[in-house]
Amino acid sequence: MSFFNFSNLLGATPSPPTTAYPPLKVVSPLATVTGQTLEAAFEYRRNTITTTANGITVEPKRHQYRFKTNLKPKKTGLLLVGLGGNNGSTVVGATLANKEALTWQTRTGPQTANYLGSVTQSTTVHLGWDGKQQVYVPFNGILPMVSPNDLVIDGWDINNANLYEAMVRARVFQPDLIQQLKPAMEQIVPKPSIYYPDFIASNQGARANNVIPGESKQEHLERIRSDIREFKQKHDLECVIVLWTANTERYTDIQAGLNGTAEEILASIAASKDEISPSNIFAVASILEGAHYINGSPQNTLVPGIVELATQHGVFVGGDDFKSGQTKLKSALVDFLVTSGLKPESIVSYNHLGNNDGKNLSEARQFRSKEISKSSVVDDMVASNKILYPEGSHGPDHCIVIKYVPFVGDSKRAMDEYISSIFMGGHQTLAIHNTCEDSLLAAPLIFDLAILTELFTRITYATEENGFTGFHSVLSLLSLLLKAPVVPEGTPVGNAFMRQFGALAKLLTACAGIASDNELQLEFFTKLNA
Ligand SMILES: NC(=O)c1ccc[n+]([C@@H]2O[C@H](COP(=O)([O-])OP(=O)(O)OC[C@H]3O[C@@H](n4cnc5c(N)ncnc54)[C@H](O)[C@@H]3O)[C@@H](O)[C@H]2O)c1
Repeated sequence: MSFFNFSNLLGATPSPPTTAYPPLKVVSPLATVTGQTLEAAFEYRRNTITTTANGITVEPKRHQYRFKTNLKPKKTGLLLVGLGGNNGSTVVGATLANKEALTWQTRTGPQTANYLGSVTQSTTVHLGWDGKQQVYVPFNGILPMVSPNDLVIDGWDINNANLYEAMVRARVFQPDLIQQLKPAMEQIVPKPSIYYPDFIASNQGARANNVIPGESKQEHLERIRSDIREFKQKHDLECVIVLWTANTERYTDIQAGLNGTAEEILASIAASKDEISPSNIFAVASILEGAHYINGSPQNTLVPGIVELATQHGVFVGGDDFKSGQTKLKSALVDFLVTSGLKPESIVSYNHLGNNDGKNLSEARQFRSKEISKSSVVDDMVASNKILYPEGSHGPDHCIVIKYVPFVGDSKRAMDEYISSIFMGGHQTLAIHNTCEDSLLAAPLIFDLAILTELFTRITYATEENGFTGFHSVLSLLSLLLKAPVVPEGTPVGNAFMRQFGALAKLLTACAGIASDNELQLEFFTKLNA
């Protein structure tokens, strides 16, 4: 039996500190702490299933897991590709504003920096009932996590604007906040980046004034590798995460001989093959430098060769495409409809936006990448219910439109119509108007992606059959934050928002030795001794 309090143990408080919740003390027969390592036992109960023409056979199984978590967050650096973009400048500005606890004037009164929209910073997890009330703890109060305020952030951009200029161009922050951030933000200038005009929209050409010279893709790879190494050394970092928040690229072809294996992708870079994209090079450079790579845009950067390379190097990769606005809502709403026994028949998702992302997406090949990542989000929910969608029938008609309207800037308008078949031939129509404020919804996800990735570098697990090892290199645990989750080959993609959140919360509590079947709430309708 162990009694411990992670905060006291490490002499640290969760940061940014929250006054709303007292520290969590764990008293668990399942967990022990030795030095800075927490080891917890967890019984994983699952059904093993055999499906044949004669029916479904289900057999419950129990698996004994042990999780080891290093309780000391690593000093972590975040390198953003697209640092001078709307998301990049918003992430940097928001971190500075939060560090300094800045307050600024708005038309409706003073506003103070916060991390709303970040799952790690602003959500809670249900722990149980204390006899008087339901008890929740902050998501980042279960296991120690890096604070977004402590991330060391830098990055690349094909445009040389400093981050003050980038922030003004982005039209995301209020003028008073921009002026307060100016002295710090104008010091930050993105590193030159790789620009291959064939991959992003031609309308981005004028922006490309901060470009690594030369035609050799191998030399570009070496340059990015050296940038990562230098950043790591300069800041004495224990963990580096490279995250793509640059323009959406077109898809690359996936071909044997080009990018099907680790060896092929390295050879294709060495041969400067046309189908090697800038994002391919960033991903390979990261992996070779032991930095984890996350793709926040829709393109198919994580080709099989890159996944194989990540596995060989024991580095995490995750993607694709931040799940921030319309698609996030869809991944909750369609689950709700299908779980209600209603049958979505048509989903029409119309967007217009006026930021540089919208401009880039106004060309066909870049729009196609986005259309693909937005399209598959309801597939698992449709497949979950053959009463609504019998074998052989198709899911709802699903149409996605994106238009570029400069005037609305970063305030993306997402208008959705969901029509569902209901009881006895009726129809329910939901019409939703969602003013997204795109970058203010996306930036918190960037913090979460970095914070969770760092946490997962500190967790290893063992089963009855296998000794301690890390999670799979393809970090599907990040799915909550991504529109089109990349998952290990042969495993299913899950998009339903609350199920994704539940899986993360269950893993954290399992690692802390306090996982429970809280959702059942048996104590409220059965006789249970204290
Ligand atoms: N904001 C959201 O809500 C959201 C949601 C999901 C996905 N995304 C994706 O995130 C990405 C960034 O969005 P944004 O609004 O910040 O866009 P943005 O156009 O404002 O920023 C992208 C930045 O990347 C730079 N860039 C382009 N190619 C580059 C390269 N090869 N190397 C380095 N920099 C490069 C551009 O100069 C620009 O500054 C887009 O792909 C977008 O589709 C955004």
